[in-house]
Amino acid sequence: MTREEILRVEAIFAQLQGAMRIEGLYPPRHPQILEAQKKLLDALAEHLTASDHLTYAFLGGMIFVEGFVLPRESLVYQRFAQFCQEQAHISSLTFLRGVTAWEIEALVQFLHQAGEEDAASWATKKGLVHVKIGHLVRTGKEERELLARGAYRGTVQILREIEMAIREREALDVERIWELRFLTNAILQQIIEDPNLALRLASIKSYDEHTLHHSMNVCILSIGLGVCLNLPESLLRELAVAAILHDVGKVAIPLHILQKPGPLDDAEWRAMHKHPVTGADILSRLSRTNRLPMIVAFEHHTGFDGGGYPSIGKTWQPHPFSRIVSIADVYDSMTTRLPYKQGIPTEQALAYLREEKGKRFDPDLVDVFEVILSAAEKE
Ligand SMILES: [Fe+2]
Ligand SMILES: [Fe+2]
Repeated sequence: MTREEILRVEAIFAQLQGAMRIEGLYPPRHPQILEAQKKLLDALAEHLTASDHLTYAFLGGMIFVEGFVLPRESLVYQRFAQFCQEQAHISSLTFLRGVTAWEIEALVQFLHQAGEEDAASWATKKGLVHVKIGHLVRTGKEERELLARGAYRGTVQILREIEMAIREREALDVERIWELRFLTNAILQQIIEDPNLALRLASIKSYDEHTLHHSMNVCILSIGLGVCLNLPESLLRELAVAAILHDVGKVAIPLHILQKPGPLDDAEWRAMHKHPVTGADILSRLSRTNRLPMIVAFEHHTGFDGGGYPSIGKTWQPHPFSRIVSIADVYDSMTTRLPYKQGIPTEQALAYLREEKGKRFDPDLVDVFEVILSAAEKE
């Protein structure tokens, strides 16, 4: 979905909510009520000229459109999403081309009353043709997988926008960071339920947007490590955000270097090696209270033994989060196939991690990572 389409479906959803809110404030068919419903109908009709349907799905208290999570709406209308899923057993709401004012009126009334009646049978009884109510019951595993994959796509979209903003030298939007937190937390919740999900999700790769998918995968693998270490949820949430932003400094690297289909020369490597410092600099402006993203961005290429880059001396002890992210980072980079390099098999990546135990990597964390890999293999 394009940014414009997303904005449009977000606005339509807000209009639906507006129409529902106003329903209880005035007597039936009051001009204010009809006006709100008309706005919704007009917005829907406009959207449905290009597409023959519009479906909002509710999953794990979040709102999706065509597999895309709407982070802002999920945050603002969380109670509605929960009501739909848990009380009214509505898994989706679909509007079809040709939807009428009468159908909108009936739907808004029904949703507002939050009635006892089963939503799907109500719609059939009412004879709604252009409004379809889904009542799909999913297993916990199916739901977890769908939710996590939706949140994954949503997070990539937000990362894309953050990257664009930084490239255009705009200030980082704090709201975007909140959405990022919300979505990484949704992924985190699913991984807590099913730690093996981390590796399944981290196998989503993209050639075109390698850095964005890489950031996602490093976040997911770091959460997997954090869950295995029994870190409290509050720390896991911080780890997720710090991990996802670890490579944010790469936005300052010219694209021809980032996307170069071959080995880099010395000057290009020098440019590449600046990204931890640049990232820390960008993130230092973000929050005075949470320094973890900045620390992790700065240290994620620093070895357990103080080696790596930037060169900060052998006595430097990287933060435990940086050590976690460092393993996730190297593992994802090694196993990812890019147009100019083959991804290497898991076993070989693991051999490298073992070889660098106590040097580049924290030896205890490598052991935990091995446990995760072997558990996923057995699944
Ligand atoms: Fe990096
Ligand atoms: Fe990285």
